[in-house]
Amino acid sequence: MNQVIIHLQGIVKKFPGVVANDHVDLDIYAGEIHAVLGENGSGKSTLMSVLAGLYKPDEGKILVHGVEQKFRSPRDAINCGIGMIHQHFKLVEPFTVAENITLGEKQNFFGLSGSKLKASISELGEKYGLEINLNAKVWQLSVGEKQRVEIVRMLYRGSQVLILDEPTAVLTPQEAGELFKNLRRMASAGCAVVLITHKLNEVEAVADRVTVLRQGKLVGVLEKGQINAKEMVRLMVGRTVVMQYDREASEVGGVVLELDKVNALNDMGLPCLKDLSLTVRAGEILGLAGISGNGQREMAEVIAGLRRVESGKILLNDRNISNLSPCEIIDLGVAYVPEDRLGMGLVPELNAMENLILKNYRLPEFSGSWLLKPKAVQCNAEALISQYQVNVTSLTQPVKVLSGGNLQKLLLAREISSSPKLMVVIYPARGLDIGATEAVHKLLLKLKTLKTAILLISEDLDEIFRLADRVGVVYDGQLTGDFPVEQADLEQVGLLMTGSRLARERMIDDGTAQL
Ligand SMILES: Nc1ncnc2c1ncn2[C@@H]1O[C@H](COP(=O)(O)OP(=O)(O)OP(=O)(O)O)[C@@H](O)[C@H]1O
Ligand SMILES: [Mg+2]
Repeated sequence: MNQVIIHLQGIVKKFPGVVANDHVDLDIYAGEIHAVLGENGSGKSTLMSVLAGLYKPDEGKILVHGVEQKFRSPRDAINCGIGMIHQHFKLVEPFTVAENITLGEKQNFFGLSGSKLKASISELGEKYGLEINLNAKVWQLSVGEKQRVEIVRMLYRGSQVLILDEPTAVLTPQEAGELFKNLRRMASAGCAVVLITHKLNEVEAVADRVTVLRQGKLVGVLEKGQINAKEMVRLMVGRTVVMQYDREASEVGGVVLELDKVNALNDMGLPCLKDLSLTVRAGEILGLAGISGNGQREMAEVIAGLRRVESGKILLNDRNISNLSPCEIIDLGVAYVPEDRLGMGLVPELNAMENLILKNYRLPEFSGSWLLKPKAVQCNAEALISQYQVNVTSLTQPVKVLSGGNLQKLLLAREISSSPKLMVVIYPARGLDIGATEAVHKLLLKLKTLKTAILLISEDLDEIFRLADRVGVVYDGQLTGDFPVEQADLEQVGLLMTGSRLARERMIDDGTAQL
């Protein structure tokens, strides 16, 4: 039997109106990869935040190597070798990667020189296969890159227990495979890895033990031989979930969105869309596969009017919408579900009612000459929340306290309810449990039957193959493949995606991209 590093005993954590953790026990052993499972809102992140010193438990004990600890801050937990990488990153956006990694480290001020520091971080990054550009500012990074920074930051602090909250939600299958290899390496060296994830195939592949939570309570611990998807779903949901949808044959109409040789620059001022051309028709889902960082985010942003088009045209129903303002583009019927829900899609400090009218509060329906009409705003929120089954405890709570799945449902509810002509959606199921993923996928398929043109940007090939009518691949700011889904081949699409990765590595090797 391996040595117990962490022993959580009877942890209770309450938030107004909800018991997020209800007397939860958990042991974490040295050398294991321990998966924590549960539906959206079941209390996984809360429990791990208690362990990481972010929340003080209302009841219960935390023992580290048999000694009770009372963490007053994450710093205390880090000093005990416990490091957590959160679902919503905690980096300082205007700072560089190197600054973020060393932030708060005394070494930064005494002793180590800048270049030595960078060398030692680079070494860590290389050892675990985590490539990062130390000089880039964090706001310039993609979500995937930000996550890599977080991991290296924790490794740099000498974490012995590394908690990762849905780390692969932002990675491609290949990158996830690499990450797991590295996590296994860490476990073999005596560390413990706690992995919160919704991807059951990952759990089957890498977990040594599994803890399942449901509505804040511990409902089961599975040992190596007992880990299988069916059992995990049964424990989590209490019912079986079939991820097979009937794709209603719907008629595809005329071209709604056309990108014609579009060029745009990324945040560093470098070309990121290079003569990109594509079309999406009414009632059609174009699934765009690609490794994040190949221009997908920027593509969505130019369509939504959030980024300049340098040259080329974006046509919506034959009308040129390039470089119109985001408001004008919304008014023309374009809906956008961004990758960063709390950063861009929703305003964290506002409540559900306010977030649900963010895009149409100017309508006479919701606002009088001076003020909003509170009744109408509330009715709108109540209707959407019940129709889209968003789980909110109160309409007046800031939405930042909602779980990932509920945030995404709220955002989709708002966007779909505007009956858009075009929906641009990026990584829609990222971070969602199977039930919520099923719900979101069904919403997109429903929207398609209503003749909306849908541009679905995703790294999850299963998702793309399940939903899309056409499959495209984006690589280095260009469309490198475009097939009807029946003719698309999983291997080939995967290869087209990975091709760009190899190319990127070459760029780093020959110095085109600086490290
Ligand atoms: N800071 C907070 N204030 C109020 N309520 C909160 C807060 N953080 C979490 N909650 C609530 O506690 C419950 C558990 O949330 P938690 O984020 O731990 O779930 P989770 O299992 O991580 O879900 P997901 O899979 O969606 O990330 C939810 O009902 C959530 O709304
Ligand atoms: Mg969570």
